[in-house]
Amino acid sequence: MSRDYESLSDTAADRFVDEFRQKPESLVGLATGGTPEGLYQRLVARHRADPTLFSQARWIVLDEWGGLEEDDPATCGHYLQTRLFEPLNVGPGRICRWSSQPFNPQEECRRVEKWLADEGPIDLQVLGLGKNGHLGFNEPGRELIAGPHVATLTEESLTHAMLSTARSRPTFGLTLGMGEILRSRQILLLVSGGAKSQQVLRLASGNITSEFPASLLHCHGAVTVYCDLEAASVTSFDASAMATATGFL
Ligand code: F6R
Repeated sequence: MSRDYESLSDTAADRFVDEFRQKPESLVGLATGGTPEGLYQRLVARHRADPTLFSQARWIVLDEWGGLEEDDPATCGHYLQTRLFEPLNVGPGRICRWSSQPFNPQEECRRVEKWLADEGPIDLQVLGLGKNGHLGFNEPGRELIAGPHVATLTEESLTHAMLSTARSRPTFGLTLGMGEILRSRQILLLVSGGAKSQQVLRLASGNITSEFPASLLHCHGAVTVYCDLEAASVTSFDASAMATATGFL
């Protein structure tokens, strides 16, 4: 548990770098959105201090807003290109990203699946927690899908802050599936802010359901949740006590 967003980002960055020192050629899965921004800023600072740190890394973009123009700054690809790949000088041969306007979205999923079959599994997966419990664009529902797939975005996901400046509204999501996420060797789940406190509480309950995809992380043996006090501050419960009791946070 971290005091605030800054210390959450510091702690996650320390852990990220530790993993890299052990395995410099790690394959990293990357979420976008507001929560990991502080982590990514710190990774850029670490790279400036030691340009060899991530020089062998490989990167895969977790998901993409389908239907946005390829050069729309709201795409996940653009987010990571500007915040991480350009500052870290990552060449295109070390990145797997989605086309946001693929001619054939199913074919795009097969391309990503093939890339992962060759390069995977993911060593380190960075995740944020959706307001509806989604991970990537694995949206709540009766079933979850294991592999890369075309997702029907929920209305809640379509209100994501990333889309506030988008030139158009996404018509679908493209995402790694729960299988790829759960096959990752290590998972870092970042959760910040009071708006996520109910989700943290639900996650900490330990109940597993496809209606709250993040709950499947309880099936993984190496998840670390980086959570700040606001995200853990639910009014009528003590989330941190509950989380300690379930051994999850
Ligand atoms: C985006 C993604 C989403 C976000 C989630 C939380 O690439 O994978 O699942 O991680 O919606 O977003 P923030 O961090 O903006 O609250």
